[in-house]
Formats: sequence, structure tokens, C-alpha cells
Amino acid sequence: MAALDINQVRACFPSLESGHIYADNAGGSRTAQAVIDRIVDYLSNTNVQLEAGYSAKNSQRVVEGSIAAAELFNATSLDEVGFGSSSTMLFENIARAIENDIQPGDEFIITYEHEANNGPWKRLAARRNAVVKYWHPTPVSADNPYSVTYKVEELLPLVSSRTRLAAITACSNILGSVIPVEEAVKALRQRAEEQGARKFEVALDCVAYASHRKMDVQKWDVDYCVFSVYKVFGAHNAAAYVRSAALQTSLTSIVHDFFKVDNKPHKFQPGGPGNELVYGAAAIVPYLKSLTPEDNLVASFNAITNHEQEILTPLLRFLTDAKQVERGVRIMGTSEIDPSRIPTVCFVVVGQNAIKSKDIVEAFNKKGGISIQHGHFCAYYLIDSLRPKLDVNDGVVRISFVHYNTVEEVEKIVDVLREVLRE
Ligand SMILES: Cc1ncc(COP(=O)(O)O)c(C=O)c1O
Repeated sequence: MAALDINQVRACFPSLESGHIYADNAGGSRTAQAVIDRIVDYLSNTNVQLEAGYSAKNSQRVVEGSIAAAELFNATSLDEVGFGSSSTMLFENIARAIENDIQPGDEFIITYEHEANNGPWKRLAARRNAVVKYWHPTPVSADNPYSVTYKVEELLPLVSSRTRLAAITACSNILGSVIPVEEAVKALRQRAEEQGARKFEVALDCVAYASHRKMDVQKWDVDYCVFSVYKVFGAHNAAAYVRSAALQTSLTSIVHDFFKVDNKPHKFQPGGPGNELVYGAAAIVPYLKSLTPEDNLVASFNAITNHEQEILTPLLRFLTDAKQVERGVRIMGTSEIDPSRIPTVCFVVVGQNAIKSKDIVEAFNKKGGISIQHGHFCAYYLIDSLRPKLDVNDGVVRISFVHYNTVEEVEKIVDVLREVLRE
């Protein structure tokens, strides 16, 4: 398998030229030059009303963004892809649009992950007298109570004849773990059918997943899937996949009532899609394909996975070393390095010589040259549910890499951590 040419990769991102170490990529990635070029070109040359008689070129440019998102999702058709300003907003729009198809007593299964795929279902449940059930993460280590993971066998007993939807997250932005989506959805559907559920759908959050692994909504058999373009080397917007059957039978249009929406994504996309940003997103697929000679997304994501494991290793090894564990360092999620773990690593320092997450980040800020972050990262209820209890607002320290980070950068971060933890 071809390895990434890291110099070639880094040359695609103007903000990396400074040598600053960006290690808060789970919050937002750098933007590829090709995306920036498209946005500038769109605004400079084709920024006129969409679908007006005089604007065939810009309408085609916006379609190019949908083609790219469809390829990233592996959707069957462009008519299954829409855009919005954020993943949070897209899930909310979908939950608004599905409202007429929800009956009192219907059940939603949600997780403790980022609130974007929880809050909309909780609010919808309150509006429609539906019931919310939680898929709890389970501890997997006797030594570390914060080493938790989601197990499919804990999910299945939640399914009943009233289950209408499961809102799950392909990858945790805190635990760094990828759930086996295909296996989980297959088991969920089978259980829902056995229980005689009236109608069952799956809404998948791929925001923390999409820059690390290849999405495949067809293989996964999900009905709704969302990712944020700004975390996948693009600009600040987000894309949603909605299966065409769901567009036809589950969603009622939330756009102006005089517009004919024809079961198209416009149904859940009031207002324009953010034209220049959608056109910018069209550059992401060629960028990703350029990473390996095979010129396809599967090969590129395989190379990304390999590189990510290389850069994850020094950080995870350091934080889980017996000396650091004795010092009070506890990582979130699992400590095995395999393809089901992305290079997003969160930890706390507890015990007699506890250090606040905020103070660790401040020590990095004082030194300069490296960006990391702390907090609950909107997985508020995950942090809040862990025991022994953590200060949810101080949260966890998060260090998160993507494929443009280098082993040398990770080693520099480990050096700073070594100093901070010695204090
Ligand atoms: C897993 C996950 N889901 C959803 C979101 C929300 O994305 P957006 O900022 O596009 O609303 C985030 C953002 O950090 C995330 O990490």
C-alpha cells in the first residue's frame, strides 16, 4: 500500500507553512488551498443568483459540490444530498421535517455523544410525546474508569416494537473510537423487525469520522448521515445524506409552502445551500484522491489510516505508560492502536497531584506554537456521566491529529506534556 507523501500533503495547506502545530483538528481542520481557490473564484467570477436564466455556470458549480458530497457519502444519487451551515443545524432540520411521521409513544435511541445528534431528537420527543432511550458506554478497563466504549450488545435490548429511530455516532469526538456501524445497524434492523416496529430509521453522525475513514451509507444501510465540511479540509458548512425513501415517506418539507420540492433535498434545506462553500467542497474529493497513485477514495483512506496509527502511537504510548498512569493520567476511550481508533486522544490528570485540563492547555498556550484544547466538546453528557465524576466544564484535554500531522509534531507535543506533567 502506498504511504502518504507528507511533504506533498502539507504543501496543499497554506496555514501549515508557518510550522505552527495544529493539534485541535477534531474542532476543525485546516482548509486545503484548492478549496480556498474555488471559493475565491466563485465569489470573484460567478456570484450571481442560482438558477436564474443568466447563471448556468454558477448553478453547475453548486452541483459539483453535491457530486463531491455524494461521492464522500457513497450516496446512490445527487438527489440524496443537501447542505447547511453546520451539522447541528442539519440534524435539527431533519428532526423538524420528520415530525409529522412521529407518533406519541414512538421511541428514539440516542447516545451520550456530541449533542448535535441528540438534542434534536430530545426536543422532537418532547414535542410529540415520544420516548428517549440512551445507549450507555461501558467501561472496558479495570484500571481506568474513563476507558469506555459503546457495545452493540448494550444497544439491542433498547429496541422495542415502538422504536422509530436510532441516532448514533460513527466515531466519538472524545473517545476517539469508531463504532462498527454496519454490524450495529444490521443488528438494530433485525431486532426492530423481530419486535414488529412500525418503521425504523437510523440517523448517523459522521462528523468526527469523515476526515479519518471512508463513509459508505449504502454499506451501512443508514437513512440519514451528516458531516461537517470544515472538519474535512473544507470551509465552514456541512452536508447531509438523506435516503430517497426517507425523503419520500418520512420528511415533510420545511421550506416555504409555495415551493414545489419534489422529494428533493430542498425539503430539509430552507434557504440556499451556501453556494460558494458548496463549490469549495467540490475540491475535497480530488484532494483526497491525490494522496495515493490509485486515485480512489478507498486507497486514500487506507493510507490515511496507516499514517494516523503511526502518529497516534507515540502519544498514546506516552499517556498510557505506567509512570504517567501512576502520575494520575487517565485517557478516555481505549488504549489499543488499531484502525478502530482515530488519532483523537482525550485525557484528564486526577489524584493527589491532579492538574486541571484548563491549566494543561494554558501551559501549551504559554509556550506557544502548538494548538490543543480542553472542555466537553458538546459531548457534555458523556463527560458528565463518567464516574468518578469530572468537572464537566473543565472537561478533558483533547489532542487531535489528522493525516497532515507528522511524527515529529507529535513528539514535540509529548515533550511539552512531559514537562507539564512533571510539575
Ligand atoms: C461528533 C460531532 N458531531 C457533531 C458536531 C457538530 O458539528 P457542527 O459544528 O457542524 O454543528 C461535532 C463538532 O465538533 C462533532 O465533533
